[in-house]
Amino acid sequence: MGMKYFADKVIWITGASSGLGAELALQLAKEKARLILSARNETALQAVQQQCLSYTTHCVVLPADLVKDPLAPLTSEALRAYGHIDILINNAGVTQRSLAVDTTPEVDRRLMEINFFAPVSLTKHLLPHFRERQSGHVIVVSSMAGLMGFPLRTAYSAAKHALHGYFETLQVEHTIPGLHITIVSPGRVNTPISLHALTGTGSLHNQMDKGQQNGIPVEVCAARILTAIERKKRHVIIARNEKLLWWLRKFIPPLYYSIARKAGLKH
Ligand SMILES: NC(=O)c1ccc[n+]([C@@H]2O[C@H](COP(=O)([O-])OP(=O)(O)OC[C@H]3O[C@@H](n4cnc5c(N)ncnc54)[C@H](OP(=O)(O)O)[C@@H]3O)[C@@H](O)[C@H]2O)c1
Repeated sequence: MGMKYFADKVIWITGASSGLGAELALQLAKEKARLILSARNETALQAVQQQCLSYTTHCVVLPADLVKDPLAPLTSEALRAYGHIDILINNAGVTQRSLAVDTTPEVDRRLMEINFFAPVSLTKHLLPHFRERQSGHVIVVSSMAGLMGFPLRTAYSAAKHALHGYFETLQVEHTIPGLHITIVSPGRVNTPISLHALTGTGSLHNQMDKGQQNGIPVEVCAARILTAIERKKRHVIIARNEKLLWWLRKFIPPLYYSIARKAGLKH
């Protein structure tokens, strides 16, 4: 990665209190970016901010619940932090661990709100700003579950699929010169995401799943995302076995169905 690409760029990261978002913040701080960190947990955000401030002089926290808080005033506040925004990283997300039959409609909606409507809404609030500057970059952290179904994740997978539809269409419309959109599809990454996963009734799954623990190291995933941003990639897949599964789905569908079922139901 060219060391200078992110220097001084103003980057708003959602879901920066944990996992991938916190790691992206840290790596970007090392590149001397100017950061705005959002998530609900203010204490956790401040801990990440402290780490970042040992590398960059500019890092502010902007705590928010992206499902409950009005996002227009939040976006204005983010814009006031440094006067402009170069890059929005839509990373906040919540996964699911429940069969469709056991999942309440409320949980389906919550998963759509945080994983789909929040990134769409933040992006839309920033589009006029990007149009005015004729420049901007929106990153959307989707998932391999946004490219194929996977057990225990019906609404999560649906929300991530929806992101592909929305942001790919935005890429094709291409009405703002200088605006780039990068969709990221990671396979399993070693983060606490399964601890924060929702069960069918909306309680926390609260278990560190084996699949999660054996996932791609978060440092590796974050570094690959930054490379994709710098190269202005439209879509990047960062996965191991899931990529193989995705190819099977394309070329030998029956194998995808049986393997995904067996692998998925084990967590
Ligand atoms: N880990 C994986 O295997 C994997 C694989 C593919 C894709 N992804 C995607 O990667 C992204 C990051 O996940 P992660 O693995 O880093 O999980 P994580 O450690 O659980 O982090 C999720 C982040 O989202 C934030 N968040 C959740 N609900 C929010 C809300 N209502 N408002 C604001 N922020 C909220 C959380 O902060 P607060 O709780 O403080 O609000 C946290 O910072 C997600 O979009 C996820 O779907 C992860």
